[in-house]
Amino acid sequence: MDTARGRLTRDGIRLYEPGDFAGMAKAGQVAAQILDEIIPLIVPGQTTGEIDRVITARIDELGVKSATIGYKGYKHASCISVNHVVCHGIPGPKTLKDGDIVNIDVTVIVDGWFGDTSRMYVAGKLPRKAERLIQITHDALFKGIEAVKPGNTFGDIGHAIQSYVESNRMSVVRDFCGHGLGRVFHAPPNVLHYGRAGTGPKLEQGMLFTIEPMVNLGRPETKVLADDWTAVTRDKSLSAQFEHSVGVTADGFEIFTLSPADKFHPTFST
Ligand code: MF3
Ligand code: CO
Ligand code: CO
Repeated sequence: MDTARGRLTRDGIRLYEPGDFAGMAKAGQVAAQILDEIIPLIVPGQTTGEIDRVITARIDELGVKSATIGYKGYKHASCISVNHVVCHGIPGPKTLKDGDIVNIDVTVIVDGWFGDTSRMYVAGKLPRKAERLIQITHDALFKGIEAVKPGNTFGDIGHAIQSYVESNRMSVVRDFCGHGLGRVFHAPPNVLHYGRAGTGPKLEQGMLFTIEPMVNLGRPETKVLADDWTAVTRDKSLSAQFEHSVGVTADGFEIFTLSPADKFHPTFST
């Protein structure tokens, strides 16, 4: 079945039509709503497996589909990455403890459109150094988003994120990146969270992609554990991540995955 729409740039990046943005917004809102709803579950003593079970049930009730169940053999509706886990943490019997910082990443498919978003949560009382990491990571995502407009390049996005993070003496993970999406989960281009201004493909109206910087308190290097999914910081330092799905408009950007309850920003500051 060919569900492709729009046309491809020379870099193989699909340009969607203005009318396609409504589908992306609907998918993004479902993913963001689920991330809003699970906030009360992020407490000491909770297991990551139970959080994923609730997410799976909500996806079902809402009549939409998980993009991650069955994706390259992945079996869960979320990735739950605690403390020094950078991304792709597998939900399971692990119990959250006071002061843990947690990224939860959900991707749903609604009417064939993909909505992909993640944000940070805290179990119990937030440690001061984790608070700084979460704030800088959140703000770094928005520095990247603010660079999204026709005529800028993907390098401008990476540069905005990297320069902000490094000026705050933290590091940007190089081993994972954002991605094009739309009617598919992962498409060109790789959206790097570091780079030089003015480099890379030019942004054009109709491009759809994620920006999802991972920021470490220590060094940027990661390794993947024996389960073939869980990525951790090599130096065991704390890591944080936020992710939005965005589209390039005629004069800027649209964020599809904004929180309906305005709870995307870390709850400690609200
Ligand atoms: N949602 C992740 C992303 O931001 C991908 C997770 S793939 C999985 O691209 F299989 F690990 F779930
Ligand atoms: Co993503
Ligand atoms: Co994601």
